[in-house]
This record gives sequence, structure tokens and C-alpha cells, in this order.
Amino acid sequence: MNPGKLTRLLLILSVASLLIFGALSHSRAQRPKDVEQRVENLLRRMTLAEKLGQLQQLDGESNGNFRPEHLELIRQGLLGSTLNVRGAQRVNQLQHVAVEGSRLKIPNLFGFDVIHGYRTIFPIPLGEASSWDPVSAELSTSIAAREAYAVGLRWTFAPMVDIARDPRWGRITEGAGEDPFLGAAFARARVRGFQGSDYGAPGNILACAKHWVAYGAAEGGRDYNTTEVSEYTLRNVYFPPFKATVDAGVGTFMSAFNDLNGVPTSANHFILTSVLRGEWKFDGFVVSDYTAVKELINHGLATNDKEAAQAAINAGVDMEMVSRLFNQHSPALLKEGKVTQATIDEAVRRILRIKFRLGLFEHPYVDEAAESGALLTAANRAAAREIAGRSMVLLKNSNETLPLKKNLGAIAVIGPLADDRRAPLGWWAGDGKPEDTITPLAGIRAKVSAQTKVGYAKGCDTLGDSTAGFAEAVALAEASEVAVVFVGEEAEVVGEAASKSSLDLTGRQLDLVKAIQATGKPTVVVLINGRPLTVPWIVDTVPSILEAWMAGTESGNAIADVLFGDVNPGGKLPVTFPRSVGQVPIYYNHLNTGRPPEAKNRYSSKYLDTPWTPLFPFGYGLSYTQFKFSNLQLSARSIRNNGGLTASVEVENTGRRTGDEVAQLYIRDLAASMSRPVKELKGFQRITLKPGEKRRIVFTLNSEHLGFWNGQGRFVVEPGEFSVMVGPNSEDVIEQKFAVTGH
Ligand code: NOJ
Repeated sequence: MNPGKLTRLLLILSVASLLIFGALSHSRAQRPKDVEQRVENLLRRMTLAEKLGQLQQLDGESNGNFRPEHLELIRQGLLGSTLNVRGAQRVNQLQHVAVEGSRLKIPNLFGFDVIHGYRTIFPIPLGEASSWDPVSAELSTSIAAREAYAVGLRWTFAPMVDIARDPRWGRITEGAGEDPFLGAAFARARVRGFQGSDYGAPGNILACAKHWVAYGAAEGGRDYNTTEVSEYTLRNVYFPPFKATVDAGVGTFMSAFNDLNGVPTSANHFILTSVLRGEWKFDGFVVSDYTAVKELINHGLATNDKEAAQAAINAGVDMEMVSRLFNQHSPALLKEGKVTQATIDEAVRRILRIKFRLGLFEHPYVDEAAESGALLTAANRAAAREIAGRSMVLLKNSNETLPLKKNLGAIAVIGPLADDRRAPLGWWAGDGKPEDTITPLAGIRAKVSAQTKVGYAKGCDTLGDSTAGFAEAVALAEASEVAVVFVGEEAEVVGEAASKSSLDLTGRQLDLVKAIQATGKPTVVVLINGRPLTVPWIVDTVPSILEAWMAGTESGNAIADVLFGDVNPGGKLPVTFPRSVGQVPIYYNHLNTGRPPEAKNRYSSKYLDTPWTPLFPFGYGLSYTQFKFSNLQLSARSIRNNGGLTASVEVENTGRRTGDEVAQLYIRDLAASMSRPVKELKGFQRITLKPGEKRRIVFTLNSEHLGFWNGQGRFVVEPGEFSVMVGPNSEDVIEQKFAVTGH
């Protein structure tokens, strides 16, 4: 599907959901003035206990049930929000108590982690970012929103927009990778997908930008760990995707778990109040991460629960997830003057404002009859398949091993992940069910000719030492024309609390690949994984490698589409692949050193035992056709610092198939008042070209792209020379220069 088609699909979806969810009968859009008035009216009538109730979010059962306690708390007006409670009937039951059984009839806000799909699971966000196609992300999140809405949810804890430069960190899987510009584009798209143009409209849900902030910079890649990030790097690298969500109208933020420069983020006034509200004018509310308020004690920022509550409220947390310290200690804190009534009122106001904007007071219930028909529809599955196909990255393809012919005599499908239904769903798979997953084996069986023999051998597990299955796998490969080996990671070893000190394939998987490769049969390795893996032997030896990521419910069909050439892969890596874990952190947009790496100079910035270069650079990915970049032209050689210019380049499909290329534009500010990165992505376009077709791609550069946040926290465009580099990835570029003048 091309982007135009995806955009049309988005439009159709919005109209369809208007019909399905009955929106035509009522408009939810509330006039801002009315909302403020209603908030004030309600606030005036609330007791302190009821106010604190709105600041509380409690956890349901993992199967979606609420807890008996919730009924009572809601009846008394002491609980404003739940997480994990879902299912139309259960939601209505609890909501009924809130709206008809409580004194002030304030509806409950139902939240859940809808990260890359609710029931129809799309590729993990890192995979989806490999599409370099924000329209895909907007479509997948809007479908996820509609499914979530149908089960009564009104709020997702997504998108996760943390920049991640460390693949040891398991949560790298949940974001868009290492780059602030690409990350901001996906952040915007995901907010738009979840919220639409009005999060109160039926079928849309409220989004939450998380984890504010720098959670991905955890030292050693160890989840929840300390972060030490200068304001310079915060503003230039970690903030931009969050700022993009605010610009896109995101309704909520989540404060993170990590300590940031000595102040845990969930008690960090600078980020929660000075930046978020002061500078960015964010008017939604901030929810803490799960028990993050209570954890301030472990951080050593508070000696007890009461101090923890005080620190978080005063810093700017509005709603507390799961721990109950705001509720328990605010009355005393108010009496002692350590928290003001105005602070509490403001937090309540922010939450009520969102509830009104959501239209929850007018339409608190969900249509139970519409629930099942909205989930895992054929259209949703079709979109998941298209997007999964767009997300795959061809890493190597010697001798045109791929695409495979559909009329092969015999194909060997091998590996622990060849027929695994759980791994492709990845981490945070909503209510996605393994039984709905199309595995690679099933996808391949459905794709090949009736005469093709598809053999399957697992070979080994992803963990453990057994090679008992090797002989069968080798025999199968020997009896086939081609072997496709599926290796990678299980869903359980990526995501939260899934940090790793090694990025190698686990168990005996590499040995399995070696054994199959040794048969001499053409071998293809398909990686199913949630983070970059260190697979240098495979890259050096195996002719073809496809990075399929954890591609969701339809992954097997999408993989087969790519393996057999119905889809020509056009994805690009949104994150650098290291050769070995010792190179981490390794990212393309680093600062230069005084001694940049040089092969023949020992006293340069490199390793003695491994090259300094990555296994695959940021932005990398091949196609079944070839592209040529030429004739980079700038519209000006010199511009004023408030001006702009265009850069244009010719891209030609020089191969024999129609294919997609992602033209990427990078800049470098060659000398500035602070060291600037050697390259920074500032534009990208994914285009489809027919064989022989040549197109000129135009990028615009203005102060927004050329400036940076300096040491004084000011955004500046400094005079001097800039490089513009354009190419198919961050390394393979052609270059031109221009100058910025003026002050
Ligand atoms: C903890 C995770 O860090 C966060 O991302 C998630 O939204 C909450 N748990 C709720 O499940």
C-alpha cells in the first residue's frame, strides 16, 4: 500500500467510526469557555476527600476486572481513574456506580497501555518507526484507539517517545529509536492517531506522552536506573519528541521512574512545571508512573510517605498511579502548609478539564453491543499486514537470494521463532492473543504454490543448551532448495524490566544458523526481535538477512509478502546496530572528538579490539531494487539566520523492480558556540519509484532545522558554515555546503 492509500484508509476509518460509534447524533466538542466554567462549578462543590479522589488512579486485575474495593471508593467519590480495567460490560458496571451512585456523579477515566494495538497487534513501535512513514503510525494508532474505545477505554499510556541510544534497555522496543527528529515525527503521528483532532470524539482516545523524561538514558541500559543528562542534551535530544506531542495537542503526560541529575523525574519541578507548563503551556494533566511517587523514598528524596507526596505534588504531578500517598497525606500536608489548597485545586482542575473535554459527563457509557464487532476486523488485520510489511528492513541480500520463488520445489522453514505465536506480539501486546497470530510458517504455507513442499524444524529453543533438534533441521535444509531460519528474541526478554548485558542471539541459535549455512543451501535469516542484536557472524556469512522485528498479529503474512517479493522491503533502521555490546552507546548523531577515529592513528577515538563503526548505521536498509542519489542542489549558498533554503536531490530507481526508497537529509553545523553533532537528521521522505524512474526530492530547511538550544537554554541559529548531506542512510551521503550570516 502506498502512503496515499494509507491516508485514504485513515479518512475512511474516521468516517466509519463516526457511524459505528454513533457520533453523528451528537458532537462532543466542548467549547473551551464552557469547560472552564463547568470545572469551576464542580470544583466549588467538592470536599477535600472528593478532590483527592480525582487525583487517585488504582490498578485493576490483569484480566481486566475491577477490584471490589473500586466499587466502594467510586461510590464515595474517592477514585478518579483506573488502569487495566476494560471490557464494555465491566466498564459500564463501574461507570454506573460513578455516574449514578456517587454524590457528584463524576465519571471514572479508564486507562490502559494500548501501545501498538489493542486486539489487532501492529509491529512494535521500534519496528513501525523502521517504516519511516508516520502515516503508518497514525493509522495503526487510530485503529488501536477504535478497538480500545469499543471495550470502554478512553485513555492510553502511549505514545512512549523516549529517545533510546542503548539497546541493552529493553524498552527501546516501545519507542521510535535514537533520533529526535524521526522520534518527533512519530510522536506527532501517534498522538494524532490516538486522539484524532478531538479526543472527545467517539472512537478516539486520550494519549499520554511518556516517560517524561530521559528514562531511556538509564545508566548501563539497566531499567529504572539513574540518568545524568545535561540540559544541553535534554533540550536538543530528549525533549523534542515530547514537545512534538504537546504541539499535537496531547492530553496527558506521564512522569518517569528515573532520577534525573539528582532529582527523580516524578519530583522534578524543572521538567514538570518550569518546562512543561511554563515554557510549553501544556494544559493537560500529569500522571505519575506506577508507584513512582512512593519510590521517591527509595531514591532518597523523601524519608517517608508524607514527604514523598509533598515532593511529587509540589513538583507538578497531578494524578498518582497506584500508590496512595496524595490521598493519605494531603490533609496533613495542607494543615502544615507544606502543600497549598491552590496546588491541589489546580491538579483537580486539570483532571476535570480533560474529563469534560472527553465528553465523559455526557457519554460515560460504552455500547456493549458494538464491542466484539469492532475487534480484529478483516480491515484491521489487513492494515496490520500492510504496515508490518512497510516496517521490515532488508539488511543484506547477496546474489539476489531474495525474493524467493513461489513455485520452489521444497523450502525449509527452520528456527525457534518460525512457528511461535507469542514472540511476534512483542511487549505490551494489549489484549492481543497468540491464537490470532499468523506465524511465519503459516504465512509461508499460505504464500507458496500448491506443489511446494514446506518443511518445518524448530532446531532449538531461544534459550538453553540443547542441540537435539539440529540434525532434523540440517536434514530438512539438505532436502530443500532454500532454508529460511527464524531466530531472535521472545517477547518476555524485551520491554519493561528486560535489560540485557549481551545483545547476542541467546541459547544455541547462532550455532543453528551456522549448521544450516554449512549445508551450502541458500540461507536466509529472518530476525524477530525487539532491539538491535549483535549478529556480526551472520552479517559476514549468510547471504540474506531480513529484520522483521516483532511485527504483530499479521507478522507471518507480512514476512511471506516480503520473502516472496509481493512487497519490496523499504524500511530503514531507526537505531544503530552495534557489532558488540561493548560499543554501546553507539549512535549516529554524536559529537565529534578532538581526535576523530582514524584507522592508522592509535591516538584517535576508537577501540583496540573492534572497529569503531557500527554493524549497520542509522537509516540503513536495502531493497530488491537499487537507487542512485545524484545532483544535490541548494537554493542558496548563503542565507540570513532567520531565513531558509531548499535542498533537492535526484533519486533514481536503477534496478528492475518498483521499490521504495527513504531519502534522508542530514545537516552539520560545522562550528558553533557549542559542539554540534557530526550529523543530524532534518528531513526524510519515503517514495515509490518504478524501474528507471527518476524524481527530484525537495527538502526545506529553516531556522527550526538549523538552530539548537545553547548552554543558556536559548534556541539559536548561529552564523557559519553548514553541511547538507543527503542519501539512503546516515553514512552513504552526498554533500553540499552553505553559510548562515547575521546574528
Ligand atoms: C509502568 C510503565 O513504566 C508504564 O509505561 C506503564 O504505562 C505503567 N506501568 C502502567 O502499566
